[in-house]
Amino acid sequence: MAAGLNSARSMAHDDLTRAQPLDIERPSELLAYLRRSGYIAAGEEPRIRVLAGGVSNRTVMVERGSDEAWVIKQALAKLRVAVEWFSDPLRIHREALGLRLLARLAPPGSITPFVFEDHEHHLFAMAAVPQPHENWKSMLLAGQIEHDHVRQFGQLLGTIHRRAWEERAALDPTLEDRAIFESLRLEPYYAYTAGQVAPAQAFLTGLIARTRVRRLTLVHGDYSPKNVLVHGGRLVLLDHEVIHIGDPAFDLGFSLTHLLSKAHHLHQYRRAFAQAVQTYWSSYLGALGEAPFAAGLEQHAVANTLGCLLARVAGRSPLEYLSEDERARQRAAVLALMAEPPDSVSALTERFLVLIER
Ligand SMILES: Nc1ncnc2c1ncn2[C@@H]1O[C@H](COP(=O)(O)OP(=O)(O)O)[C@@H](O)[C@H]1O
Ligand SMILES: [Mg+2]
Repeated sequence: MAAGLNSARSMAHDDLTRAQPLDIERPSELLAYLRRSGYIAAGEEPRIRVLAGGVSNRTVMVERGSDEAWVIKQALAKLRVAVEWFSDPLRIHREALGLRLLARLAPPGSITPFVFEDHEHHLFAMAAVPQPHENWKSMLLAGQIEHDHVRQFGQLLGTIHRRAWEERAALDPTLEDRAIFESLRLEPYYAYTAGQVAPAQAFLTGLIARTRVRRLTLVHGDYSPKNVLVHGGRLVLLDHEVIHIGDPAFDLGFSLTHLLSKAHHLHQYRRAFAQAVQTYWSSYLGALGEAPFAAGLEQHAVANTLGCLLARVAGRSPLEYLSEDERARQRAAVLALMAEPPDSVSALTERFLVLIER
């Protein structure tokens, strides 16, 4: 009788444990999950380490011995930023789809191989980038601006845009859905900023409208040095949850903003970053080749760069390394440029640098 009660109690306890959502940042929970699901053997004792830095996901390293390591990502419903910002955890499956697709389209070695995906717990696993590696954003902020890294950054994006355009008829139709791009990019970057900065409202509203109708090729949506690791001199791209079919000019504006904002912040490396912008743009164009949307792309890239330069000082996700003074100066510079947008990436760079010069 007593034994029966106990086992009833422990069953109820098990049900309760199962009903709790899995949190992969709790190592014992993750270990039990990996064993229960058969992804690792019952007796295996991998080393589990929570990775810092992500704002929209839980990211955990699972080292399975000397030759194999995985990174498991699980989506958060509420993003880790100062303002309230929510996004559907189902986006993790968009990232897994993007990962598999990019592994086919991008230059060899630039995308981490896919390992497994779990729709119940909203997570997926990919191969870890081997050690030693460095985050490219950290390298750039430390003044390590290497021509070959910048060249690869342009070539990687140009290759993705071109290859996806070539294969557009065969792309997964899910990628036409842009809800994640709307909620993680158009609203927090462009629409929110339009509401905050009245003189930019017309420019940003026009930019949103054009972005929505330009459905040209695969857009990464988070093409930032922060999402690039450098291993053995080669760039590896991460973080594909915003991937969709849309306007390639968005990726250009988003990424050029990182180079120009670093030119702004790191006074002593200003010229090196200006040179990096030119290297990036020309290697991008070289890899893009003859895609028909290449004509006119520069003008849209400039407009997105202006939109992102402003969004990163006045939107929901400001660049953490810019001081209050730098934010104010960048905002004034962008408003001056929006009044009369430059017609090329190089003109934009030169005028931006003049406007922020102390
Ligand atoms: N495959 C991987 N190999 C090694 N480190 C990784 C890998 N994926 C992610 N990371 C580390 O975790 C961090 C956050 O990952 P990321 O995919 O950018 O998540 P988030 O969507 O939260 O920004 C990265 O900057 C990187 O340091
Ligand atoms: Mg990231």
